[in-house]
Amino acid sequence: MPIPHLRPRRLRVSAGVRTLVRETTLEPRNLILPVFVSEVDPQPTEISSMPGVFRWPLDRVAEPAAAAAEAGLGGLILFGIPRAKDARGSGADAEDGVVQEAIHRIRAGGYEGVIITDVCLCEYTEHGHCGLVSDGGEVLNDETNDRLQSVALSHARAGADIVAPSGMMDGMVAAIRAGLDGEGFSQLPLMSYSVKYASAYYGPFRDAADGAPSFGDRRSHQMDPGNRGEALRESSLDVEEGADILMVKPGLAYLDIIRDAREAFPDMPLAAYNVSGEYSMVKAAAERGWLDERSVVLETLLGFRRAGAGLILTYHALDAARWLAEESVGKGA
Ligand code: PBG
Ligand code: ZN
Repeated sequence: MPIPHLRPRRLRVSAGVRTLVRETTLEPRNLILPVFVSEVDPQPTEISSMPGVFRWPLDRVAEPAAAAAEAGLGGLILFGIPRAKDARGSGADAEDGVVQEAIHRIRAGGYEGVIITDVCLCEYTEHGHCGLVSDGGEVLNDETNDRLQSVALSHARAGADIVAPSGMMDGMVAAIRAGLDGEGFSQLPLMSYSVKYASAYYGPFRDAADGAPSFGDRRSHQMDPGNRGEALRESSLDVEEGADILMVKPGLAYLDIIRDAREAFPDMPLAAYNVSGEYSMVKAAAERGWLDERSVVLETLLGFRRAGAGLILTYHALDAARWLAEESVGKGA
């Protein structure tokens, strides 16, 4: 029996040594909490397919923001559920729209952290599409960009710190950047959902935000799951158009794409979206006692970090931050 001279197990002998040589870290500041704010729910309403996630009425939306600050999260991202919908998604850029109001309430509640806003039309259009739709049912690109520019501007005026367009229209980043710069918001960062696949993992989110398309699907603008090269093309365009932060979405089935984006754009901040379906799967298995939720969540989030994501949008953010805090207490840190 040959005796191995090289023994990687030496560096696994104790918790202390393992911690010393660990390559990847996960901290609360890496995490961004999605917050649903609603004009139609008088009380915080739990989303049935996403246990532990609520639609918050405006008069209580300061509560999850305060919790995010308390937990030391990097920020939060707002999604709105408006009272009324129409063909143009007029609620999305209304001065007193649900997201605009939520920003005021959150600030009034004393939150000083980062507020990101999702910029899209699908929660505000009666047909549920991410943009304006032609008579023939086609999602119109350039006309939609004009709307997205207006939505992003109204979020900026309301006090958003970062705007995050998620609609995957061509030229959307350039249109929004030009709009912001033209109104004195040249210092406002833009986080683009630059690589967003047409994914079945968004299912629970569409229940949560009431934004499922009433006909057709999103495959004319969201990316085909088979494509890898195209992810770099989409990212390059967004960088050229002025995006400050890139994003890959969903996360788990696309860790290779996160790694590609990290390597192709080493100097760009990169986010990964741990989407609703990924959350629901873990919650469902944990409820049945089939998985240990805490270990699985922390392992998954660490995996996103190892793949190359600096920021992670996740519905687990508050739980994960609490568990991380408990671990550092346990280590005497
Ligand atoms: C809207 C939007 C979606 C998500 C974020 N913004 C849904 C979609 O594109 O259908 C998905 C988030 C999630 O599943 O957690 N454009
Ligand atoms: Zn959309």
